[in-house]
Amino acid sequence: MDDSIKSIFSSLTSKATNFFGGEDGDFVVGVDIGSSAIKVVELKKKKGKAMLETYGAISLGPYVQGGEIGQVTNLPAEKIVEALREVLKASEASSNSSAMAIPVQSSLVFGLSLPARLTESEMKSVVPTESRKYIPVPINEVSLDYFVLPTKEPSFVEANNPNVVSGDEIKKDILVVAIQNDAVSKYRSISSQCDLKSSFFELEIFSSIRSNFEHELSLVLLIDLGASKTKLSLVEFGTVKAYHTINRGGADMTDSISKSLSIPFAKAEEYKKEFGLLENPSEKSIPEIIKTHLDYIFSEANTVLLNYEKKYNQTISKVILTGGGASMKGLAEIAMGNFKTEVSIGKPFSKVGSPAFLEKVLLATGPEFAVALGLALRKLQ
Ligand SMILES: Nc1ncnc2c1ncn2[C@@H]1O[C@H](COP(=O)(O)OP(=O)(O)OP(=O)(O)O)[C@@H](O)[C@H]1O
Ligand SMILES: [Mg+2]
Repeated sequence: MDDSIKSIFSSLTSKATNFFGGEDGDFVVGVDIGSSAIKVVELKKKKGKAMLETYGAISLGPYVQGGEIGQVTNLPAEKIVEALREVLKASEASSNSSAMAIPVQSSLVFGLSLPARLTESEMKSVVPTESRKYIPVPINEVSLDYFVLPTKEPSFVEANNPNVVSGDEIKKDILVVAIQNDAVSKYRSISSQCDLKSSFFELEIFSSIRSNFEHELSLVLLIDLGASKTKLSLVEFGTVKAYHTINRGGADMTDSISKSLSIPFAKAEEYKKEFGLLENPSEKSIPEIIKTHLDYIFSEANTVLLNYEKKYNQTISKVILTGGGASMKGLAEIAMGNFKTEVSIGKPFSKVGSPAFLEKVLLATGPEFAVALGLALRKLQ
């Protein structure tokens, strides 16, 4: 197993702003290479607390011939290196002590149900064998990590009457994360070409959970609205209970606006950010176009929730929206209408100290930086 991702689950439940390890004056930088933009956040430790040093983002669209801001890209490593160097320079991030995110498309996250009697050492051999069914590439091309999900107590009847469960072996649920070794090598190489020393590579959803969660213990749905994909994580007690990717994101909305109004992609992206779902007199159809995509995303999310509810007899108590798309004007109201529960927009920067005059800006741009910030927080611990 690759050491750098071994501790992927390690610090999810710890309080991010309470540091005991490390030295005052430590600087770290978290790097999130998204499909439309690279985001970096640099933190510094002061009196045992995490302070925001600097942050920045760079659009990757313009690194493609004829590409636009907001567009989804699939760039070769040398272009990513170029862009990452640029954003580090522009944001004046000076630390080379860093951590990088692995995007969900380079990984698989799935659940296994295994006999509860298995010991820890038996699990080490059983998990890879069982995982083969779910992984479409040879097992030696991925690094596996797994986590035993806390099970609910057996009911009184089950506990007192062995006949109820006889023939039906007691199981435990395991969450498995498989990351392509190629992806880790690629990001390791990008990192060193930018003079960064990345000590770990973490699946993006875990970074995002770290920075978006405050004290939520009951079941929460975290929705990361990216440019290319929407990522759904069901989280309880800081642990991912289920995960699902939807192949639809902010760039699809911009694309539809651009086609429907016959305007360039760049203009459509501008309109989307300016008006979002709010009524606007100049381009009345924009909210409806965006809603078509949101309807799709929310109906997929509802299906995921329904399946979870059937299996575990548990409903969510809250939805947290994150990723650049979470900054969409009017989104929280629409989401509330769909989920019929508390909905909040993530405030990742509230986990770190920052100058008061930045407060408003950090609140507005926060969701975009959740992954980069979560990485830096873990690195600083
Ligand atoms: N104020 C806003 N209103 C609406 N959409 C916004 C706003 N700000 C950013 N976005 C959208 O958020 C998306 C970018 O978000 P983010 O940076 O999280 O994506 P990414 O990490 O590059 O993509 P992915 O996670 O899918 O790889 C873009 O589609 C962008 O248009
Ligand atoms: Mg992203």
